[in-house]
Amino acid sequence: MTETRWNAITAMQQPDLKALFNIDPDRLDWLTTSVGGLRFDWSKTHMTRELLGELLALAEDRGFTARRDALFSGAAVNITEGRAAEHGAERGEGTADSVARAKMLHNRMRGLVDAIDAGALGEVRHIVHIGIGGSALGPKMLMDALSRDGSRYDVAVVSNVDGCALEEAVRYFDPETTLVAVASKTFTTAETMQNARSVIEWMTDGGVEDPYGRIIALTAAPEKAVEWGVDETRILPFSETVGGRYSLWSSIGFPVALALGWDAFESLLEGAAIMDRHFRLSPPEKNAPLIAACIDHYYVRALGAQTRGLFAYDERLRLLADYLQQLEMESNGKSVKLDGTLVDGPTAPITWGGVGTDAQHAVFQLLHQGTHLVPVEFIASIEQGHGFDTAHHQMLLINCFAQGAALMQGRESDDPARAYPGGRPSTTILMDDVTPAELGALLAFYENRTFANAVLMEINPFDQFGVELGKQIANSIAQDGPKDFDPSTEALIKLAFG
Ligand code: F6P
Repeated sequence: MTETRWNAITAMQQPDLKALFNIDPDRLDWLTTSVGGLRFDWSKTHMTRELLGELLALAEDRGFTARRDALFSGAAVNITEGRAAEHGAERGEGTADSVARAKMLHNRMRGLVDAIDAGALGEVRHIVHIGIGGSALGPKMLMDALSRDGSRYDVAVVSNVDGCALEEAVRYFDPETTLVAVASKTFTTAETMQNARSVIEWMTDGGVEDPYGRIIALTAAPEKAVEWGVDETRILPFSETVGGRYSLWSSIGFPVALALGWDAFESLLEGAAIMDRHFRLSPPEKNAPLIAACIDHYYVRALGAQTRGLFAYDERLRLLADYLQQLEMESNGKSVKLDGTLVDGPTAPITWGGVGTDAQHAVFQLLHQGTHLVPVEFIASIEQGHGFDTAHHQMLLINCFAQGAALMQGRESDDPARAYPGGRPSTTILMDDVTPAELGALLAFYENRTFANAVLMEINPFDQFGVELGKQIANSIAQDGPKDFDPSTEALIKLAFG
């Protein structure tokens, strides 16, 4: 059935995007939906009622309802690692036991936030958050997006093992008034542990008597943090069933809760929960993450799009593309299906993007006239995030909407170099504002969409074995030097280290 349906989808004539509004004047109605302060508009994509209907049916053929329910029921959906994926429980959507455990751990985190506010750890003015990948991208993006109206502490997020990153982060911080959050699910990640050792050295050199007393560990491996020297009272655990790139809702979000306040952190979780409930309970034809995934699947598998471009027309969301690169590419950049056989088509497209209007003056030439098919996603906010003249925001939004229209409409010209083919798809997500709640809903939308994409591709989005080999080779170079490698790698090692 699945293959027959897919063959029928690919056999359908590709709709003419430029003509679709004339053929179906109601398409804006049925191709838009609003959830949690976000309005999704897919009307500038190639979807027709028939095509989207077939794609939704394909998702069901591939077990969408059963797999989604399994996700929220705490079943071991991460089959290669034999565990559940319970990030939903962090925002109250999961089994009663998992939700209760997440709540208990959040309460523990809240207790530490309150204690720090009350001065239990002495004077605190600065926070250095050390982590990498999922242990850094979420907190970094959230702090960047939400701290513009004021943050109770200066927060710097350090991920790269390049000492330049740490040096820059602590340059204006006083070691005596700095707290360090070491964020690592495993508490073994080489880069994070190196940065943590160096920050201890920095505090020691700065005259801090008990530098380990200034460390807070955010981890699913509390015993490792204890071994490393962190006192149990300053360890904020989270569940092993929360994946790294899905972990900002857990204690990994500690700097957000500390710097922006508990209410902001709670609003983030509540916004995400609204989106989770929408994903769990809405009918397919109104289910935003599922519809978005069906459209992704069509562009990637039927039309061969190799990338998707994501442009936030809002400076507050300038790190969104970085964050989503890990979420989407680490989750769905796979070659093996759930049953262990090789996939029968491309998996995650390359997620890339930037901010508007900057990107218009840099990469949009390719989007309008280049030869690649790049489905574009625009994200913008109705409310502005600054106190300057509203002219800024008007110009920003006008440009965003103009780009979507131009991509779709195109423009004829006698001069081929000046012609715009048009017919290029885009989606717009219009947020009421960039608040913790709306950002929570937006990020949960992307998580659930990534999951729905995995269902369509029949892959497991929750493992990441592809990152292991490079780490192992780095370890063996660190231990044994240039031994048993190819001539190029050996020569590079010798040139760098003698
Ligand atoms: O190497 C990839 C990865 O395992 C990511 O999945 C993860 O987010 C990151 O490393 C950091 O891992 P940890 O939180 O265990 O330090």
